[in-house]
Amino acid sequence: MDVQFLKSAYKESHYPLPDLPEIAFAGRSNVGKSSLINAVVNRKKLARTSAKPGRTQAINFFRLGNEMMLVDLPGYGFARVPDKVRNAWRKMVETYLRTRETLRGVVVILDIRRDPTTGDLDLLHWLDHYAITPIVVLTKADKVSRQETRKRHSIITRALKEENLIRAGGVISHEPVIFSARTRQGRDEVLSHMKTVAAFNPTDPREPHNP
Ligand code: GTP
Ligand code: MG
Repeated sequence: MDVQFLKSAYKESHYPLPDLPEIAFAGRSNVGKSSLINAVVNRKKLARTSAKPGRTQAINFFRLGNEMMLVDLPGYGFARVPDKVRNAWRKMVETYLRTRETLRGVVVILDIRRDPTTGDLDLLHWLDHYAITPIVVLTKADKVSRQETRKRHSIITRALKEENLIRAGGVISHEPVIFSARTRQGRDEVLSHMKTVAAFNPTDPREPHNP
């Protein structure tokens, strides 16, 4: 795939020109956001990964051919950071999510072994409120058995339904995708959801109204 790193940004004035539909990747620190991006674009080391939480600290922009931009967001919920740093993170990510006019959807990455955290639910409710389409992915499926995978998938799906995040007519239109960056299970499905979401935006003010 023709994919290229564009830039790292800490503030709006540093974002690249919004000239393509954009998909962002969000989730807890260390959940596997950067690894998922690499798996989706078939590149081992495009987005930097690390066993230590907090690897991705800026907002990193990548360009996938002439099709879309991919945005690796810094993770949340990392316990060992001072409040000041956490608030700065919040502001940086919320500013991005609120202001980026070409943002079409957010791949929200959850660890299949864990129940969604307050941070995960806050993010999903926030996206729901602003009508930004989430693509929910349960990663690290290689770490559990097939039976456990099915069980965890249904537990997490139920939890999201109880939060009213998955509902008829809601912005989550599909069940969570089971994924592994190690085995690449679910890779094609994630990419196909990304393409669908990137292509869809009836209210884009930059589209010509009349042919
Ligand atoms: P931050 O940028 O720090 O927020 O982390 P991140 O969410 O980008 O996570 P990253 O992709 O750096 O992965 C964190 C750790 O989890 C690394 O050691 C990865 O190798 C590992 N990891 C990520 N995805 C998977 C997966 O699907 N399976 C397994 N077994 N390990 C994974
Ligand atoms: Mg990362």
